[in-house]
Amino acid sequence: MRKRVLLALSILLACSGSIMKGSETIETLSLDIISYEAFQKEDPQSLIVLKSALYEKGIVGIKAVPGYKEKLLKFIETAREFSALPEEIKESYAPNHALGETFLGYEKGKEKFKRPDGRWVVDDLKVSYYGFVPDSLLNKWPLEVDLRTPFQDLGFLMSEMGEAVMKKIGLLGPDTGISLDGVPRLGRMLYYRKSGNSAVENPFWCGAHLDHGMFTTLLPAFYFANGEAIPEPEEAGLFVRTSQDKGFKKVIADDIDVMMFQVGEFGQLATNDGIRATEHRVHKAFGCVERYTMALFFDAPMESVIHSYSELTQDIRYGGGPGDPCSYRQWNEESFKRYVVKDESKN
Ligand SMILES: [Fe+2]
Repeated sequence: MRKRVLLALSILLACSGSIMKGSETIETLSLDIISYEAFQKEDPQSLIVLKSALYEKGIVGIKAVPGYKEKLLKFIETAREFSALPEEIKESYAPNHALGETFLGYEKGKEKFKRPDGRWVVDDLKVSYYGFVPDSLLNKWPLEVDLRTPFQDLGFLMSEMGEAVMKKIGLLGPDTGISLDGVPRLGRMLYYRKSGNSAVENPFWCGAHLDHGMFTTLLPAFYFANGEAIPEPEEAGLFVRTSQDKGFKKVIADDIDVMMFQVGEFGQLATNDGIRATEHRVHKAFGCVERYTMALFFDAPMESVIHSYSELTQDIRYGGGPGDPCSYRQWNEESFKRYVVKDESKN
């Protein structure tokens, strides 16, 4: 009986396809979506879809979370207003490293990722604004534009939903021994600048990586060309790899009323590979197209210690072998060291 259910599910979940872009074929992955109502009612079939999608594809969507669409549209409008400010004003909200500030606030082109050919490439067209959710005295907020209110309103909803999904799939509580009580989430506004001709040299707005925390909530992206909203260009968007032996597939996420969820590396470590982190990257749009979105990251408490048997223990960031202890503080700090580009001029 169980076998039959699994077979039916794998058919349900195997709805991927492809689209042609010039001479290139882009593999696509349709996003599995359940309704907020079904999630709240704990509809058994919907929960199976939710879990299977996260375990097999690493990504799932929940549609029609009350209040979500309005908060999302307000946030994107405000993110655009902030991005239109002069660069020197935006830079004034970057962390002041001399004062010991590390990452909250404005950030431009500070992450590097390893390309398949082994080269490390800086994502120089990626612009971010980081803030804790719920709001904290440590957060920096611009005076020219009220980014804080829509960031916090949307971030709170993303936080509530992400934590509820984590509980449903066993990432929190007795299965992992991890609780998020009192741990702030980290929100990240993302603005990808127009790529011009740079897409030939580096086709990615954001190179392939796995989020290093427990879990991530994210929005469908919004695209603009010459100030006008446009649909997601075929070549652009979020791509995920569902397993090591498969290529990256474009996630078809064109419904703005859908909130999405991905798995992070510490989630994989804490479940001993029971669930796997979602490898993903963002492909550039050609020409004068800009992209806006937001991600909300779930950290484990810094003092939480795991004794993992995951294959990720082989990563040097773990600082030991299978079964050895590793705190989230260690994993978090080592991950920042690996991916964040040091700006010597501000140290
Ligand atoms: Fe990511």
